[in-house]
Amino acid sequence: MIGIFDSGLGGLTVAKEILDKLPNYKIIYFGDTARTPYGSKSAETITKYAIENTKFLLNKSAKIIVVACHTVSSVSMPALKSLFPEIPFFEVVTPSFKKALIITKNKKIGLIGTRTTVESGIYNLLFSQADPQIKLYSNPSPLLVPLIEEGWINKPETRKIIKKYLIPLKMKGIDTLILGCTHYPLIKKIIQEKAGKRIKLVDPSKEVAIQVKEFIEKNPNLKEKLDPNGEIEIYVSDITPNFKKIAQLFLNKKINLIKVNLE
Ligand code: DGL
Repeated sequence: MIGIFDSGLGGLTVAKEILDKLPNYKIIYFGDTARTPYGSKSAETITKYAIENTKFLLNKSAKIIVVACHTVSSVSMPALKSLFPEIPFFEVVTPSFKKALIITKNKKIGLIGTRTTVESGIYNLLFSQADPQIKLYSNPSPLLVPLIEEGWINKPETRKIIKKYLIPLKMKGIDTLILGCTHYPLIKKIIQEKAGKRIKLVDPSKEVAIQVKEFIEKNPNLKEKLDPNGEIEIYVSDITPNFKKIAQLFLNKKINLIKVNLE
């Protein structure tokens, strides 16, 4: 089984891509809706949550863990890997960074994400190591996760806020924009519209799903340990009013939510 977690709805963008690419594998998804958003919390608290989420998925027999959250991917991976050394982990920062590096032509890359992701400096570090000529322009976009969790996906207010977040990045002449939060593919159309056609978007959900697929195909042992029945089981730490509605719309199927208490 493939275990996937996020602070809420956002990781479903990753789950959907994995389901599309690996339709015969069971997915256990955990959305930490009681403690979302993560992106405005300290690295210490986020790592504590990430450890609890991982333990929960491992207890449910997950054999690989996909950290479908940019915030956790930015600050908690060393702790997770050292606590669970035998578990294959996938995160969303590295594949997004690699894709942006391939796409950019003018070496001006934009990043939007939660405050913690942007301030972690992880992308600055990766790009400066890979190519010192790359200029990374970031803008923390903390209002977007609550708007998406609230279901305000097509509201004029959301469109205005997206436009506002993108203006400073567009003024720098970026040709590539990393959607540095797994919630953002849910509003990708509006982001693309406000960014304009000349800016290419990097969608973390697509990039990590490709990695997971390649890994499973290269590891026949692991393939046997995964449950080949193409289902998604969704656990949440709180049943919030919009989760089910948005998840069903997005996954295009009926789902059941199972509430769990991790504390
Ligand atoms: N989907 C999470 C991410 O990718 C959202 C973070 C949050 O809860 O603030 O960063």
